[in-house]
Amino acid sequence: MRQFIIQGGIPLKGEVEISGAKNAAAAILAAAMLCDGVCVIDNLPYISDVVVMAELIEYMGAKVELSPSGRITIDASSLENKTPPEHMVSRMRASSYLMGVLLGRWKKANVPPPGGCCIGARPIDLHLKGFRALGANIDEGNLVSIEADELIGGEVHAEASVGTTINIMFAACRARGNTTIYSAAKEPHVVDTANFLNNMGARIKGAGTDTIRITGVNALHGCNYTIIPDQIETGTYMIMAAATHGDVIIKNCIPIHMESVSAKLSDAGALITEGDDWIRVCAPGPLKAINLKTMTYPGYPTDLQQPISAMLTMAQGTSVITETIFEQRYRHLEEMRRMGAKARVEDRIAIIEGVDKLYGRCVEARDLRAGAALITAGLMAEGTTTILGGRYIERGYERIDQKLQGLGAVSYTHLTLPTIA
Ligand code: UD1
Repeated sequence: MRQFIIQGGIPLKGEVEISGAKNAAAAILAAAMLCDGVCVIDNLPYISDVVVMAELIEYMGAKVELSPSGRITIDASSLENKTPPEHMVSRMRASSYLMGVLLGRWKKANVPPPGGCCIGARPIDLHLKGFRALGANIDEGNLVSIEADELIGGEVHAEASVGTTINIMFAACRARGNTTIYSAAKEPHVVDTANFLNNMGARIKGAGTDTIRITGVNALHGCNYTIIPDQIETGTYMIMAAATHGDVIIKNCIPIHMESVSAKLSDAGALITEGDDWIRVCAPGPLKAINLKTMTYPGYPTDLQQPISAMLTMAQGTSVITETIFEQRYRHLEEMRRMGAKARVEDRIAIIEGVDKLYGRCVEARDLRAGAALITAGLMAEGTTTILGGRYIERGYERIDQKLQGLGAVSYTHLTLPTIA
């Protein structure tokens, strides 16, 4: 098992470059399977979720060239409509996108249910309801079998679900006629995916608003595309900078995507300045407690609830966090209690009383963003923190140990078979 080891108590200082967006990459790689041509996609983060998605696409028969420099070339002209193996699909939530893509391309998909981090129930009922609204019949067993004689545009209510909005865009852009997605998710990676599809010849309007309108087309073609910077990675480094009372310039990011995070960090006492594609976060003074509720975009993202709640364990006063999206997103706080954090969880609410010190311990990450939270905790703590479950962290953070070292942190990764203290 890969583990992260961090020597705490060092303020992060310097500059860090943000990689391409994980969630956009997963959707855009899947989208490349919708056409017969060649897609060249740049600014891909080199993380395990991307590697797994590339392997899945290759398994489906496409020719894939993935380079660690961040470029992938996908030639999906040789793609086959086969059933992907469960052991590949269960490794990530974004494998659900195969349903929309195969349905769009062949009007038929047989896919095992998707996996992903254990942060709540994670059903796919809204995805399936959306496919039905486009004329598909669905049989749910060990495999989800979706089939339509003809896909016909319809009206879908996505209830702000990211996965549903993206999956319906995939199917609808090859359906006959017009589809309207109401209460669409507005996250930056939804917009990036729509932009990619439009570059392939799709006709999608309104991505980034509540209502997305799609006119189906007969065929899509290959294209070149560059993925946007990662909103969640940006926010993670912003929080780590504030949590360590550091001074960090985060480069190659999109500040407008970060408004809710900047606002909360400012409320907590951090100083934020920004330019066109950079944000500087410094926190010379003590941090104060804040209240926070996770929301869909442009609200505060659930994926950054875990890192900021780690930061708040050392803020002055009592913070109240309300997690409205995923019900099991506080397990990092259980681990942090062993580091000296004072936090109690009541259903979807966490009440965090700030303490003066955290102590380095051996802790375990059980999901990706819990990993980011525990790294934040390790950076703040006195002594050495060992974080087990590094494979979760590698799902979403490109070269995080090297990036932290570049900011002065003493952190490294280690391969061994550890035991929990
Ligand atoms: C995506 C992101 C994930 C992020 C989440 C919310 C990817 C690969 N993952 O996950 O990092 O935390 O958005 O921003 O992009 N729901 C249902 N039925 C459904 C679908 C969703 O009830 O059919 C519920 C979920 O249980 C959850 C909420 O809707 O409570 C939001 O889920 P959704 O936006 O779909 O998240 P994902 O696409 O799974």
